[in-house]
Amino acid sequence: MARIVIAGSMNIDILSTMKRAPRAGETVNGDTVAFMPGGKGLNQAVAAAQLGGEVAFVGRLGRDAFGDQVEAFFREKGIDTGHIVRSTAQPTANAIIFVDGTAENRIVVIPAANGETSPEDVATVAIAPGDVLVSQFEIPRTTIAAFFRRGRAAGARTVLNAAPALDDAPADLWLDTDILVVNETELGHFAGASVAADAPVVQVADAARRLFRRDGQTVVATLGARGAVAVAAGGEVLVPGRPVKAVDTTGAGDCFVGALAARLAAGDALPEAMRYANVAASIAVTRVGTGTAMPTADEVAAALAGA
Ligand code: RIB
Ligand code: NA
Repeated sequence: MARIVIAGSMNIDILSTMKRAPRAGETVNGDTVAFMPGGKGLNQAVAAAQLGGEVAFVGRLGRDAFGDQVEAFFREKGIDTGHIVRSTAQPTANAIIFVDGTAENRIVVIPAANGETSPEDVATVAIAPGDVLVSQFEIPRTTIAAFFRRGRAAGARTVLNAAPALDDAPADLWLDTDILVVNETELGHFAGASVAADAPVVQVADAARRLFRRDGQTVVATLGARGAVAVAAGGEVLVPGRPVKAVDTTGAGDCFVGALAARLAAGDALPEAMRYANVAASIAVTRVGTGTAMPTADEVAAALAGA
């Protein structure tokens, strides 16, 4: 079976729920706080593994208890940790997350060990034709570029989740990306035009087309509760959202990406993989948390069957 090889971030999320997030200079009482495995790379890996994928992970942790917690969590999920390096200089990364009563989040990420993930780290992990490579913007761009260059040369497919939208990416990284996954904010950032959360799908598709750098590329824009749209030279695929009661949208995009990778690795065509990923993400938003909020294959199957 084709594998999913992820080079990415691993964080311990310090996630607090509260009715309303504090304004500058203000203190509020929160309802809950938990220290949970997160980070975009980790969340995507866990989603892919729980949904049937065979997953190998490349990244860096600190030599600390948080690093041990992440590694144990990965082992429990059956994820190959053989290419995870323990940094001697940096601690395991954290994200401080506020989730308010409207399920909206505010996040501060401290990159720490993730920032050390190097091109050498991605140089030796096994990549076979048909494998699905996945990365996100919480590790250095030059490392992702080296990873994708190797992957394309080996006949693998590359999926880039350009999140978060902080800087620009090296030109060769865009060129080596087969499927780019972005939300409206990221799409606007990289297309150089703001895309509102309620922008008409034709406008989203126009912005997505501006990100093409060569033939054969696909841009998938996730639209939150409205679902997702894929834009390729040959046309568009729109998958409508599945209505649910959202309590925490943190990690929903990661669930989508991990599920998409798992289904592509299993041989699905993109439209089927998108429909599956959309349902998986709709389940993730009904739970507080990130890495621990990813659905199982049984849960997605039940939701797809309308149960
Ligand atoms: O996408 C959600 C993730 O972003 C969280 O788990 C947090 O770690 C931040 O990196
Ligand atoms: Na969540």
